[in-house]
Amino acid sequence: MKVLGISGSPRKEEFSGVHRLVTTVLEAAGCSFELVSLRGMKISGCIACLGCVKDNVCKVEDDMKPLREKIIEADAYMIGAPNYYSGLNATTHAFFERWFQFRHQEGNLLWGKLGVAIGVGGTAGQFPADEIEKFFLYNFIETIAKVSGQGAASCYSCGYGETCKVGIPHLLYGEGAKITPEKIPNVTKQEAVMQAAVDAGRLLGKRLLDGHDRMETTLKMQKAMMDKFQGAV
Ligand SMILES: Cc1cc2nc3c(=O)[nH]c(=O)nc-3n(C[C@H](O)[C@H](O)[C@H](O)COP(=O)(O)O)c2cc1C
Repeated sequence: MKVLGISGSPRKEEFSGVHRLVTTVLEAAGCSFELVSLRGMKISGCIACLGCVKDNVCKVEDDMKPLREKIIEADAYMIGAPNYYSGLNATTHAFFERWFQFRHQEGNLLWGKLGVAIGVGGTAGQFPADEIEKFFLYNFIETIAKVSGQGAASCYSCGYGETCKVGIPHLLYGEGAKITPEKIPNVTKQEAVMQAAVDAGRLLGKRLLDGHDRMETTLKMQKAMMDKFQGAV
């Protein structure tokens, strides 16, 4: 059983809460895994060229190309993204848009797999985690856990964080907020978040090793998708 971890943060590993949480979940799962960071990768959004319709292979030449096989081979996904404007950051969104290549003619390469969704935000990370869950559902992947934590917004280190009226320190602590080391959020200091990450990893490992039935999961997720859309018309 192989798990593919994706960190969608553009930050260096040591400064990224997303990278920390994805790593924690992966290590707790007890399965073989590969962690890919999208940092520095050039991945465009889907350009709707329909070049993938006949064979489910995207024809856009960029850094998504070598990820295709990794996505297909994995039994489960652990995907984390930072909260940018209360949603997914653009790189992670572009990465997911390119999963369009797997959909055509009832392409079932990803159906029935398992996923963990991870989000980190300067205030909170639930928005990107919810969006990752939505992308998983489009591919009939079951989100077995969502983990969200608070990371350090750039405002803590940009140099203007104590005076800027639209910065996160001001929004969280009010006017005249002083930036002290203990105020700077770090997921490793958030015990409940780190525990949730370990629990998510263990649950994923258990589900995978307990004879995970992809067909059963596929049917469950197809029903969830139908319910979602039938309520919308
Ligand atoms: C362009 C941009 C937009 C952001 N928008 C939000 C936001 O709307 N809400 C929020 O809570 N944090 C926001 N943040 C802060 C990041 O979510 C925060 O820095 C988080 O720690 C990023 O995760 P990372 O450390 O793994 O990169 C934004 C950061 C950037 C660079």
